Amino acid sequence: MSRLIVVSNRVALPGENRPGGLAVALLAALRERGGVWFGWSGRTARRARSGEVHEQQDGNIRYVTVDLDRADLDAYYNGFSNRALWPLLHFRLDLIDYDRATREGYRRVNAMFADRLAPLLRDSDTVWVHDYHLIPLAALLRERGVGCRIGFFLHVPVPSADLLMAMPDHTQLFSSLYSYDLLGFQTRRDTDRFHSYVRLYGGGRIVGENLLEGPDGRRFRTGTFPISIDTENIARQAAAAVSKPAVRALRTSLEDRMLAIGVDRLDYSKGLPERFHGFERFLQRHPDQKGRLTYLQIAPLSRTDVTEYRNLRSQLEQIAGHINGAHAEPDWTPLRYVNRNFPHATLTGFYRTARIGLVTPLRDGMNLVAKEYVASQDPENPGVLVLSLLAGAAQELREALLVNPHDLDGVADAIATAATMPLARRKERWHAMMEHLRKHDIQAWRKDYLAALESA
Ligand code: G6P
Repeated sequence: MSRLIVVSNRVALPGENRPGGLAVALLAALRERGGVWFGWSGRTARRARSGEVHEQQDGNIRYVTVDLDRADLDAYYNGFSNRALWPLLHFRLDLIDYDRATREGYRRVNAMFADRLAPLLRDSDTVWVHDYHLIPLAALLRERGVGCRIGFFLHVPVPSADLLMAMPDHTQLFSSLYSYDLLGFQTRRDTDRFHSYVRLYGGGRIVGENLLEGPDGRRFRTGTFPISIDTENIARQAAAAVSKPAVRALRTSLEDRMLAIGVDRLDYSKGLPERFHGFERFLQRHPDQKGRLTYLQIAPLSRTDVTEYRNLRSQLEQIAGHINGAHAEPDWTPLRYVNRNFPHATLTGFYRTARIGLVTPLRDGMNLVAKEYVASQDPENPGVLVLSLLAGAAQELREALLVNPHDLDGVADAIATAATMPLARRKERWHAMMEHLRKHDIQAWRKDYLAALESA
């Protein structure tokens, strides 16, 4: 088996907070074959100098991380990645804040990554690049003479061709993807939308089933690989977590009320204002349910250097305050809103405690909270997932209560349906979803992807 080189903006370094599901899967793959995990060091210190490399060996895995100075980080990460690409890829042309300087910073940082990475690569290596921060990396590596297999996986959605072509300089940016050997997307719809972009605006053509050709005649493959979770582990973790002090304290605090839970980075793609309004609509449309249910929204702050995220934070504070002001009772707060993060195991215990899981993004590549919520349930008394049709996960979790997050009445009624669903129906729906997640877990995902890359 060839050596594996994983490249991603964030690297889960040994000894840091316990890595999430994706990191666990990538680490398993790295351990199996030996290899390198390459990416940004996470250092933002004012004195960090762009390009300085740090190396760390852990067993057969070498971690190679690169520092970025403030200006590079602002242009590459806050600027082009998160002010231009992120909104575009989440269908939000209105939020794009593009300028040539950040676009150039993005190219410059990718080129610097390619400069540092190229000398570490052997022809027999398999390189796996992750997400929108690193779109041009393969093209830049090829320019530096790298001939090995390089695959790319996009964790976020692909919008339609007419949105993609609204990005200035889109041909240059997106046609750099043609230098990969395999492009992986979350859902069939994402893959199809990428194909239509290539045909309509990208100067390439479709030459076979998932086989594409760029203007220079180079061929590459595409594929659909819905990312997943470590299903069995999460189920085990959740069962154990219910005796953790934080989970017990939550349960006690609910008294006999039902819990509805949402856990999302504080990001406009997650539809949090709409979800809060949908919850208020539930209180208004279903007054008999009032006081029977408490909604806990955990929303850790994210990308706070980007204005849109700061604006969203104030907006949510305003709505949460309004809802509690208008609907609370002296002994009941309808909405608990928390900007802190919790250890992953604790979250699985919270999920298991919650009768209702609220996952209602306006757009999401996949959404692993939806899958983790399902895997965390007690088989004897499972909760109900309320899931946005606009999340990639809705293509798989068909037995969730599927909602359109813009339809507040629909969200309100789904919460009511979930709150009153009889046990037999809850079990039926849960079993179907859990069976799917057992079969399609995170290890299956990375094996499928790497097998496809190696045969590409
Ligand atoms: C999304 C992206 C990831 C990113 C994560 C957290 O899931 O697809 O690439 O790492 O959000 O965002 P952050 O900007 O904090 O890395």
